Amino acid sequence: MASYIIEGGKRLEGEVKVSGSKNASLPIIAASILNPGITRLYNIPNIHDTQITLEILKYLGCKVRKNHGKIEINSKNMTKRDIPEHLMHQMRSTVVLAGAILGRFKEARFSYPGGCDIGARPIDLHLSAFKKLGINITEEGGFITCKCDKIIGANIDLDFPSVGATENIILASIYAEGITTITNSAMEPEIVDLANCLNKMGAKIEGAGTKVIQIEGVKKLKDISYTVMADRIEAGTLLCAGAITGGNICINYKTPDHITPIINKLEEAGCKIQIAKGKICLQAPKRLKAVDIKTMPYPGFPTDMQSIFVSILTIAKGTSVVVENIFENRYRYVAEIKRMGARITTEGKTAIIKGVRKLSGAKVKSTDLRGGACLVLAGLAARGTTTVTNIEYILRGYEKLDEKLKKLGAKIKIENNDK
Ligand code: EPZ
Repeated sequence: MASYIIEGGKRLEGEVKVSGSKNASLPIIAASILNPGITRLYNIPNIHDTQITLEILKYLGCKVRKNHGKIEINSKNMTKRDIPEHLMHQMRSTVVLAGAILGRFKEARFSYPGGCDIGARPIDLHLSAFKKLGINITEEGGFITCKCDKIIGANIDLDFPSVGATENIILASIYAEGITTITNSAMEPEIVDLANCLNKMGAKIEGAGTKVIQIEGVKKLKDISYTVMADRIEAGTLLCAGAITGGNICINYKTPDHITPIINKLEEAGCKIQIAKGKICLQAPKRLKAVDIKTMPYPGFPTDMQSIFVSILTIAKGTSVVVENIFENRYRYVAEIKRMGARITTEGKTAIIKGVRKLSGAKVKSTDLRGGACLVLAGLAARGTTTVTNIEYILRGYEKLDEKLKKLGAKIKIENNDK
């Protein structure tokens, strides 16, 4: 396992570029399965989760070529319809590949994605939607087999605006007979990016980014090149790194409207934010102010930023109340950051954070991707040295995070402790 070793107390300054979006890349890589030809993707971040997804495509028979940030996927001769169990368990969001495999081959076999570090992560909404599309589903021994002669467009109303379920319905409906309408669909920017990519391939999707999405089945798709959007959660993470260190940073990021709730909360906490052409600059105050947060589906405050924002609240002046409305187990990092002197109590969905003057460095363990990022930011601000272990979680979702932070003046290095 590897660790970050962080010397705290350095004010971050300078400018850094935000990488491509993990959560847009995964469904867009899946979309390349639908085109029995070549799809060229740019700005895909080189992180564990995209690597695993590309491994699965190669297992399925796709030819994958990577050079300098461009990924070329040739899905002409795909031979398999199942997602290998060992890869399924490495990453929950591989379930979105099932929708793409089904959309093209009308059959797919995969194991239950299993829970993860932040909650049970069920896929009932995905499966009930597949059934409405005319897909027969059998479950046996932890495996799910989906099969049908043809996919028939349907009206699907989601109980919850699930991002993954929305993506899976879109992917499975591209070649359907007739029209599929999703109501109460997720509105995240990653859904819009997926729809833009598929429409460029020749799909007919309307309404992405709104509560109602319509997919009219088409007969074929074509070869295209597509550049994936920038990662809004990494953008928020880097801005919070500037905020927690009393810093003065700019991020090279061109879609500020994707992170309005994060910008609003940083301003409420006393940061000065300037949105210039192609970048966002943040000037932190001497001491941050406590603010209250409620995570919501987009366009509300993103759940993926909850733990990261809590890190800055631990040293803010006053008491903050945070409510996590999306996942049922997204406070596992709290026990770790309390070892650094944070004063946090959690009760169900709610966390109460009493700001302290300073955190102190400690040895802490990443519990999940965003919980790990929270600990890194706490280490940047803490007195002394912080060792964040199990950073494999963090490497899943952030491309070269240590190098980006070093570029802004942080003292951080990776230590491999696989002795
Ligand atoms: C996506 O996960 C993101 N992952 C998550 O980011 C993000 O936190 C989440 O959307 C919410 O924005 C990717 O895009 C790869 P959901 P997803 O389906 O699709 C419940 C990160 O850190 N639910 O919108 O799994 C579910 O349990 C990751 O980058 C059901 O009950 O999220 C959760 O409570 C973490 N049944 C809520 O809905 C279902 O069938 C939101 O889940 C599906 C979901």
